[in-house]
Amino acid sequence: MLAWYDAHARTLPWRAPPGEPAPDPYRVWLSEIMLQQTTVATVRPKFALFTARWPDFAALAAADEAEVMTAWAGLGYYARARNLIACAKVVTARHGGAFPGTEAALRALPGIGDYTAAAIASIAFGQRAVVVDANIERVVARLFAIDQPLPAARPAIRAAADRIVPDMRSGDFAQGLMDLGSGICTPRAPKCLACPLNHDCAGFASGAPEAYPVKAAK
Ligand code: ADE
Repeated sequence: MLAWYDAHARTLPWRAPPGEPAPDPYRVWLSEIMLQQTTVATVRPKFALFTARWPDFAALAAADEAEVMTAWAGLGYYARARNLIACAKVVTARHGGAFPGTEAALRALPGIGDYTAAAIASIAFGQRAVVVDANIERVVARLFAIDQPLPAARPAIRAAADRIVPDMRSGDFAQGLMDLGSGICTPRAPKCLACPLNHDCAGFASGAPEAYPVKAAK
C-alpha cells in the first residue's frame, strides 16, 4: 500500500510537499473539514482561497464571521464553517496557536469528530490512528469480503481496518486507501487489475467485488 502511495499518490495542496516529512496541521484540518460531504474538485479552489486569506489558526480566529461564511459559499453545511471559527479560537486561546497532537485532545475541539481526529493525528502528527471514511469503508469491506450489510457492518469494517493499519506512516496508509477508493476501488466497475492489493483481496477473489459493501435491503 505504501509503495503504491509513494508512486501514485494524488498531488493535493494539503499534502506534504515532496521532501517535507509532514504537512501543516492547520492545512490538514481545514482540508479534512472541507472534504466532509464535498468533493476534492469543489474543495480545491476553496482551500486555496481560505489558506491565502487566513493562513493559520490565529488569522482564522480573528476573522470576520460574515466574511468566512461568504467565503464558505458553495461548500454547504454551514455549521462546519461556524465550527471552523470556534475551533480556531479555542486553539489560539487555549493551545497557544497549535493543535494538541493526540486523537483524544483533538476530539474535544469544536467540529472535530472521530474521523477528523483520526485523520489529523495520523496525517499531521504521525500517530497510528484508524481512519475510516466512505472510500476506506468500501475498500476494506471488499478486501475482507465483509458480508454484513451497512450500517451493521461498520464495527466489523473498523476492526478489519484496525488490523491492517501500520504503526508507521498510518496517515499515508489512510490517504493511500482514499486514493485507491477514488481512482481504482470505485463504487462501480472497480479496476481490480490495477490494484496493488488485488492478491490479498477477498472481494476480488470472490469475482464480485462490487457486491461489497453489502447494502441493507430496502
Ligand atoms: N478526503 C478526505 N480526506 C482526504 C485526503 N486527505 N486526501 C484525499 N481525499 C480526502
